[in-house]
Amino acid sequence: MSYECILTEVEGNVGILTLHRPDALNAFNWQLMDEVTLALQAFEKDDNIGCIIITGSEKAFAAGADIKEMQSKDYMTVYKEEFITANWEEATRCRKPVIAAVAGYALGGGCELAMMCDFILAADNAKFSQPEITIGAMPGAGGTQRLARSIGKSKAMEMCLTGRMMDVEEAERCGLVSRIIPLAELREEAIQTAQKIAEFSRPIVMLTKEAVDRAYETTLSEGVRFERRVFHSVFGTEDQREGMAAFVEKRKPTFKHR
Ligand code: CAA
Repeated sequence: MSYECILTEVEGNVGILTLHRPDALNAFNWQLMDEVTLALQAFEKDDNIGCIIITGSEKAFAAGADIKEMQSKDYMTVYKEEFITANWEEATRCRKPVIAAVAGYALGGGCELAMMCDFILAADNAKFSQPEITIGAMPGAGGTQRLARSIGKSKAMEMCLTGRMMDVEEAERCGLVSRIIPLAELREEAIQTAQKIAEFSRPIVMLTKEAVDRAYETTLSEGVRFERRVFHSVFGTEDQREGMAAFVEKRKPTFKHR
């Protein structure tokens, strides 16, 4: 499959999707989001791939929705075409882990796409904001909800109401990003992290991701109950027997992903 607004490659067991509209700082037009959707679906189907990375350029992960494309839309258009719902949210449907490797600007929809991923590794030049308020709009791809859950109401509210830019140190302090990495090492570090995940038992990785995600959707007691049921189900896998046997026998496990 050939794409115009993204690049895709596979390294080891990692699928890498690079947003690539350099002239527009990777702003999300309809075509780019269609391509992101197709590429993520292809990575999901590929049995060789155990983990996915979404990244951008050194200057911009993405500067958000394409304002030039969005400018002329009216209410009936965005409602009928299901703007955003139609092709922005595939990352949230992936069962394999998706890592956002963010350098430079992650603004508006860019910040929202990064937050749809399972965790964010950020270069030391990364900057995050929800600047929609400055152009007479508001976050529309989950920003008000995921930011509030991720960094708390006060900071989320300030970010959404002022549009201010958050630097990477603040983003790490408040839990938006999991780690800060020197810019020159971001890609390699993201691939190594993804490869490490890809080498664990794939079904158990997917179950673990599902359990952590449940924390966002339910009460603590229901979430713990869900975790317990899923934990019990792990004992029905070959990989659990192999992993524990390998520990006892002081050798590396060979997971068969079943
Ligand atoms: N949409 C369309 N084009 C964009 C863009 C965007 N979101 N962001 C940048 N570009 C384009 C610029 O128009 C410019 O193109 P031209 O050379 O043809 O003029 C090119 O990318 C480079 O941008 P700048 O010259 O502005 O670069 P800079 O380094 O001076 O500034 C920036 C960088 C601070 C990111 C600035 O480009 C900017 O503020 N961009 C807009 C950010 C924004 O408001 N994003 C939110 C979009 S709304 C949204 O995402 C809605 C939602 O929640 C779903």
